Amino acid sequence: MNRQAKGKSKKTKRPRFAVLASGYGSNLQAIIHACRKKKIRADLALVVSDKKQAFALARARKAKITTLYLNPRLFSTPEDFDRALLSALRKEKIDFIVLAGYMRILSKNFVRTYKNRILNIHPALLPAFKGAQAIKDAFVYGVKQTGVTIHFVDEQVDHGPIIVQDQVAVKDTDTFNRLEGRIHRLEHRLYPKVIDLLARGKLRIKGRKVSLKR
Ligand code: GRF
Repeated sequence: MNRQAKGKSKKTKRPRFAVLASGYGSNLQAIIHACRKKKIRADLALVVSDKKQAFALARARKAKITTLYLNPRLFSTPEDFDRALLSALRKEKIDFIVLAGYMRILSKNFVRTYKNRILNIHPALLPAFKGAQAIKDAFVYGVKQTGVTIHFVDEQVDHGPIIVQDQVAVKDTDTFNRLEGRIHRLEHRLYPKVIDLLARGKLRIKGRKVSLKR
C-alpha cells in the first residue's frame, strides 16, 4: 500500500444523521441549506415524519433526501412506533438524530439507544416555558427576555443537558408574530452550528454540563 492509499484508509467516515419533524420544517430547511453550503460536516440521510402532510416532508423530497412517513395509527403503542423508527434508522446507518419540531415523545428505549446522540431545539430559555406553546406562553407571561435552547434529549421532555442558549429581547411594541419571527430566525442560525459541533465530536458531556472540546 503506498503512502497516499494508507492516508486515505485512515480517513474517518462522515457521520449520517436523520431529522425528525412533524410540521412546517423551517429548521429542516435551514439544516438542508447549511449542508449544501458544507457548513455541517455530516450527511443528512433521512427525514422522518409522523404526519403525512407535514411540509417538512415536501421540503426533504424537493432536496432529494430520503423520506419516511410513519403512521402512528398502525402501531398499538408508542414503544412499537419507536421500534419501527429505530429499525428504519438502523437500516439507514444513522449515527445521530436531530429533532426539529417533532411532536412525539420519544420512548425510553429509543432515548437509551441513541443516548447523547439526539438533539432538540426549544423556542424558549429552558427550564422556563417547557411544552409545545413556549413562544406564546413566554409572550403572554410578559417576560422581557426569552430565546432559544438547544439541548441533548434525555428521558424527560425538554430536560436534557443544555448545549447552547441565546436570548431574544421582548420589545414593548412586539406582537406575538414579530417575536416568533425573531425566535425562528435565531433558531435557523444556531441549529446548524450545533449540529456541526456534534458531527465533529466537539461536544463533551459530563452529567448536565456540556462543554466545547478544543
Ligand atoms: C421550532 O420553534 C422549534 O423550536 C420547536 O418546534 C418549532 C418547529 O418549527 N421545537 P419548524 O417546523 O422547524 O418550522
